Amino acid sequence: MTTTGPARIGPADDPVQPGDAAEIVVLVDDVPVAGLAGQTIAGVLMGAGRQSWRTTARQGRPRGVFCGIGVCFDCLVTVNGLRDVRACQRRAADGDEVSTHD
Ligand code: FES
Repeated sequence: MTTTGPARIGPADDPVQPGDAAEIVVLVDDVPVAGLAGQTIAGVLMGAGRQSWRTTARQGRPRGVFCGIGVCFDCLVTVNGLRDVRACQRRAADGDEVSTHD
């Protein structure tokens, strides 16, 4: 008897594979930042050495990636004019315009 496993979903079906790591450039607050295809915007920012990119409204405390899985909303940025994008959940694309905000 031949058995087959469940249909594969996830990384094997992802259109961007690790070997496809072409360089991309994202504009962060009008400054070009290099990243690799497949990285999230948070990954591009952290790869450039940024640990935080916004501050809290009341106390001005720094925020960047906290959970990394889309739950905490600490990593919010504006991408191509779309506000409140979770940087840890959005895959960066070449030419994206990212603005950080308080
Ligand atoms: S780091 Fe928590 S939602 Fe992005």
